[in-house]
Amino acid sequence: MQAIADKDGVKRYLVTLHINGDSYTRVVKANTLLVNFLRDDLDLTGTKKGCELGDCGSCTVLLDGKAVDSCLILAVEADGREITTIEGLARNEKLDRLQAEMINHAGVQCGYCTPGMIMSAKALLTRNPHPTEREVRQAIAGNLCRCTGYVNIVKAILAAANEEVGEGSGDE
Ligand code: FES
Repeated sequence: MQAIADKDGVKRYLVTLHINGDSYTRVVKANTLLVNFLRDDLDLTGTKKGCELGDCGSCTVLLDGKAVDSCLILAVEADGREITTIEGLARNEKLDRLQAEMINHAGVQCGYCTPGMIMSAKALLTRNPHPTEREVRQAIAGNLCRCTGYVNIVKAILAAANEEVGEGSGDE
C-alpha cells in the first residue's frame, strides 16, 4: 500500500478495493472507515450507517465472504480484498432470492436494517445453505430491526434457503 504525502497531519494511502466485481483505486485517509468510503467516496449508499459502534449491523457487508460491520473496519484494512455490498447482489436486474423473499414475506418495514440483514443472511446461506430457524436467528443476531419485524425477516431467509434447496435438488 503506497503512502501519500501528509496534508493536515493525517496520513493518506493509495488503496485498491474490489467491490461487487469492480476495482476501485483511491487515495484515502488512514482513519477513513470502510462504511464512509463506500457511501461518500463511491456513492454506494445501500450500506447504511447506524450506531457506528458495531452494535446495530446496519452497515454489514461481506469482506472476503464474511459478514462484517463496515463501521469497524478502516478502508485501508480492506485494501486488496473482496467486498460485496447490497448493490452487488442483483444480477442482470434480477433480485437475489434473499431480496425477493424479503419483499414476498413483508420483511421490510422502514427498510433501514434490510441491507445489513440481507448481507448477514447471504453469508449464512453461502456457508450453510440449509440453516435451521435457530441458525438463521443466530446469523442475524447482530442486526437490529428498529421496526421489530423479525418474524417475517426470518421467514424470508428460510424461504430463500428453501428455494436454494429446490433449485439444487433437480426437481422441476
Ligand atoms: Fe425498519 Fe428493520 S425494517 S429497522
